Amino acid sequence: MTDNSKSAALFDRAIKVLPGGISRNAIMRKPYPFYADFGNGCRITDIEGVERIDFANNMASLIHGHNHAELNEAIKHQLDKGTAFTMGTEAEVKYAEYMIERYDSFEKIRFVNSGTEAIMAAIRASRAYTGRTKIAKAEGSYHGAYDYAEVSENSRPDNWGELEAPNNNPVVFNTPISALDEVVVFPFNDVERAINILEQNSQDLACVIIDVIPHRIGFIPADKEFVEALGAWAKKNKILLVFDEVITLRSDIGGAQSWFDVKPDLTAMGKMIGGGFPVGALAGSNEVMQVLNPLVKKTLFPHSGTFSANPLVMVAGLKAMQLFESQEVSRLNALAANLIKQISEAISIAGVPVSVTGAGSVAKIHMMGKPPNSYRDHFKTPQMKNLEHKLIEYMAANGVLMIGTCSLALSTAMTNAEIDQFSETFLSALRELKHDF
Ligand SMILES: Cc1ncc(COP(=O)(O)O)c(C=O)c1O
Repeated sequence: MTDNSKSAALFDRAIKVLPGGISRNAIMRKPYPFYADFGNGCRITDIEGVERIDFANNMASLIHGHNHAELNEAIKHQLDKGTAFTMGTEAEVKYAEYMIERYDSFEKIRFVNSGTEAIMAAIRASRAYTGRTKIAKAEGSYHGAYDYAEVSENSRPDNWGELEAPNNNPVVFNTPISALDEVVVFPFNDVERAINILEQNSQDLACVIIDVIPHRIGFIPADKEFVEALGAWAKKNKILLVFDEVITLRSDIGGAQSWFDVKPDLTAMGKMIGGGFPVGALAGSNEVMQVLNPLVKKTLFPHSGTFSANPLVMVAGLKAMQLFESQEVSRLNALAANLIKQISEAISIAGVPVSVTGAGSVAKIHMMGKPPNSYRDHFKTPQMKNLEHKLIEYMAANGVLMIGTCSLALSTAMTNAEIDQFSETFLSALRELKHDF
């Protein structure tokens, strides 16, 4: 034990039973993680009794913050009826009806249990539909914990190779070469190189997966030209276009996909659509989603899952989405725009080489003067990582919780008062750290 705090004592127990003392690397922190006691609205209190404004929102999944009265009511009502059945429920039908009405590109939806599972299902559906096996993805883009989806999500200068043909790097030691060989990696926001790479693989590709505000590429919005070029190319070559909207669905009333003149064949979702519970979903056209249909003679993609469309998740998700209607989406995006503006102002006042990117209701701060526009631009040196760490720790010590990557995801529980508080604390952090740059 390193000190006498409750957190140190809890970590001491945790390290004996959990690898590294944690169940997910995203909450890692030294000397030990923060341990939550309770959350309320946009604030979270740890077991030391310290309250912070929550700009992490369980990795961008809690669109309405914590302990939302209407959500709680819906959940409690379902709890009284039961938590899981080997039967369908009206809850899943109602939620599916809602989603199909709301999103232009959805005609059928299948609920699963995480964003990772939604991407897995998207890949398998694409393979089943096209009869081909390879997938294409942007270098650096995170699409969950799955052999194919994670290829080259953390490539480094010493292994990323030429931009004309980025290397396929595994995340997990001893990932089969056969899995790596099924993935085509292209540079983000680079139309010419991306299309060249895709062209070389057009005969083998089942789908092109794109996240248009990729977290691990710095929450840099994809250029409209880039997304539309990928979409047009995929359509021409009869390859499916898959939007990973696990985070970005929050960006507009019709999802981030509504910003582009291309329509995805499939959309993978997760995070906010669970109303605070674990969830994922795959949606798309009748024709493509038909591969999942168990009523046909030969089902190309048989799929099941013990907790898929769990009724507790369905009622919470539906309520969360109903509450996230047009006006709330606009209000949240305006808060985020104000946050980005205030962060930029603080950077100018402090005169430090820092920048901010973002779109919709997410943002990310970079320890570099020029905002990055690609994965390789955005790659952090050890000095940048050190500065980032100091900034996050300063913010946490002064009442603001950020995501460990220096990212921010807003919730509707916030108002401009919290944005102002963030900006004031951020400016003092920059002043404090100025000599470290
Ligand atoms: C864009 C994106 N896709 C997929 C995933 C995987 O989702 P999950 O963590 O629910 O498995 C994430 C998770 O952070 C994500 O950000």
